[in-house]
Amino acid sequence: MNPVSSLQHYAALSIFPEMFDGFWSTGMVRRAIMGGFITGRAVDLRAFAEGVHKVTDDKPYGGGCGMVMKPEPLMKGIAHLRAEMPGVPVLAMTPQGQPFTQSLAEDLAREKGMIMVCGRYEGMDERACIKADMELSIGDYVLTGGELAAMVVMDAVIRLIPGVLGGEESAEKESFSEGLIEYAHYTRPPVYEGMAVPDVLLSGNHKAIASWRLETSLKRTFLKRPDLLEDRSFSREERSILQKWSREIARLADN
Ligand code: 6GU
Repeated sequence: MNPVSSLQHYAALSIFPEMFDGFWSTGMVRRAIMGGFITGRAVDLRAFAEGVHKVTDDKPYGGGCGMVMKPEPLMKGIAHLRAEMPGVPVLAMTPQGQPFTQSLAEDLAREKGMIMVCGRYEGMDERACIKADMELSIGDYVLTGGELAAMVVMDAVIRLIPGVLGGEESAEKESFSEGLIEYAHYTRPPVYEGMAVPDVLLSGNHKAIASWRLETSLKRTFLKRPDLLEDRSFSREERSILQKWSREIARLADN
């Protein structure tokens, strides 16, 4: 399959472009490139720096420790990539950015690709940072650079492009369990170190399997990530599972 019309373009602007070598050449991302769904490349920020030393960082105004990424190479690099990839959004990777979520990944998968600007040191000069269409963070912790964050975001987005994952996997996503922790997975052997695979999974009864999966998925979410259930609009089946538990708990409590 070669869906050229919807070909998306991914680029990372970084002083360590080699960090992306394994990313482009492995697994799902490699298949997305080979299958003609995306192009992917890392561009060396140093190529846009001036002088023999190609310096990309400098001391912070106002003093303080660490270095700041100079605005000129970032601006030139962004302008260069914008010109080469018209209509592709520019995302600056920074811990002060908007928190990255699955819902944002779904929005980004509908774009023409992404230009990931990866900062190092204490951060990017503010004037270059605001040239981006969006600032993104992948969580409340500090990485030494935006490269790993850029790969996290691209991985989450590229797998959502229609056709990139096999039909079975993508169909699964559409189904019941969105916003819940996934159900437990099992493969052979049927008994491993005394632990058996739940009978229902061996039954061949697809309806029973689907409701077992939904119930365990809901149970795991309730126990491990109750926050995910706070703003959820439950389906009729989910509601009936919650009511069943509630009756069961009331019965135990009343005894
Ligand atoms: Cl996008 N960059 C850096 N340097 N640290 C982060 C981050 C990004 N997201 C979370 N921590």
